Amino acid sequence: MKRIEGMSILITGGGSGLGAGSAKYFCDRGAKVTICGRRKDKVEAVAAGIGPGCHAVQADVTRDADRRALVDAALEHGGGLDALINNAGNMYRGPIEELDEQALLDVFHTNVIAGMLLTGLCVDALAAREGAVVFVGSIHNRRAFPGVSPYAATKGAVETLSRVLAAELGPRKIRVNCVAPGAVLTEINQRAGLFTDDEARARLESMVDMHALDRIGKAEEIAEAMAYLVCAEWTTGALVDVDGGLGLGLAQA
Ligand SMILES: NC(=O)c1ccc[n+]([C@@H]2O[C@H](COP(=O)([O-])OP(=O)(O)OC[C@H]3O[C@@H](n4cnc5c(N)ncnc54)[C@H](OP(=O)(O)O)[C@@H]3O)[C@@H](O)[C@H]2O)c1
Repeated sequence: MKRIEGMSILITGGGSGLGAGSAKYFCDRGAKVTICGRRKDKVEAVAAGIGPGCHAVQADVTRDADRRALVDAALEHGGGLDALINNAGNMYRGPIEELDEQALLDVFHTNVIAGMLLTGLCVDALAAREGAVVFVGSIHNRRAFPGVSPYAATKGAVETLSRVLAAELGPRKIRVNCVAPGAVLTEINQRAGLFTDDEARARLESMVDMHALDRIGKAEEIAEAMAYLVCAEWTTGALVDVDGGLGLGLAQA
C-alpha cells in the first residue's frame, strides 16, 4: 500500500459532507489536500477547520476555467498530484413523467461530465506519480429506489466510467476506482428532503432496518474506503460498496 503521508490529493465538493470528511481524514494522515466548491464561505471554513494542509479553492466544476485553475492550485499546493477524488455531486429526483430537461442536463453536467473533464486535465500529473482517481457512485448503483431515476442514472454512468477509464489509463499506471456510499446524513439528503421532517425521519428509520449493520453511515467511513482506493497499488476498475449492508437487499424471514 502507498502511504497517505506526503500525498497531494484533489477532492471536489469539499465544503460539506463526504468531501469535507475525507479532506480531514487525508490531512490528519499527513496529505496535502485541495478542496473546492461553489460556496466560498463553506469551502474556506472547512479548510480553516482542518489546518494548513487543506487548501480551499472556490470553483464550479462545471466551468472549464474553474477546472483548470483548480488543477493548477492543487499542483501548487501539493507539489504534484497523487489522487483526484471526483466527489462533487447534486441530487435531482422526480417521477419520470415530470422531469425537467435543464435540470437533467445540470445534474449530468455536475455528477458525470465535470468529473470526466477534470480527470482528463489531471492525467499527466497523475501519471507522473502513478496516481489514482476515485469516482463517487452511490447505493443507487445497487438498489432501485423509485423516483430517483435522474440521480441514479448519473451514478450508473460514473460506475461505468470508472471501469472504462481503469482500462484506458492502466497503461499510464493510473488506477481508477469507484466508491459507492450508502446513506450518510449530509446536505445532499437534507436538500432532497430526507432526514428532515417527520415523514422523512420515518423513512430513515425504515431504511435503518434495511441495513445489515443497523445504522446509516458516517463521512469518515466513506473516507476509509477512498483511502484504500487511493493507496492500494493493485486495485483498479473496482466498485467498492460502503453501505452497512443496505445494498444486500435484506429480506424479512
Ligand atoms: N450522503 C449520502 O448519503 C451519499 C450517498 C451516496 C453517494 N453520495 C455522493 O457523495 C458525494 C458527496 O455528497 P454529500 O453527501 O457529501 O453531499 P453534500 O454535502 O451536498 O456535498 C456535495 C458537495 O458538492 C459541491 N458541489 C456541488 N456542485 C458543485 C459544482 N458544480 N462545483 C463544485 N462543487 C460542487 C457542493 O458545494 P457547493 O454547493 O458549495 O458547490 C457540496 O459541498 C456526491 O457525489 C453524492 O452523490 C452521497
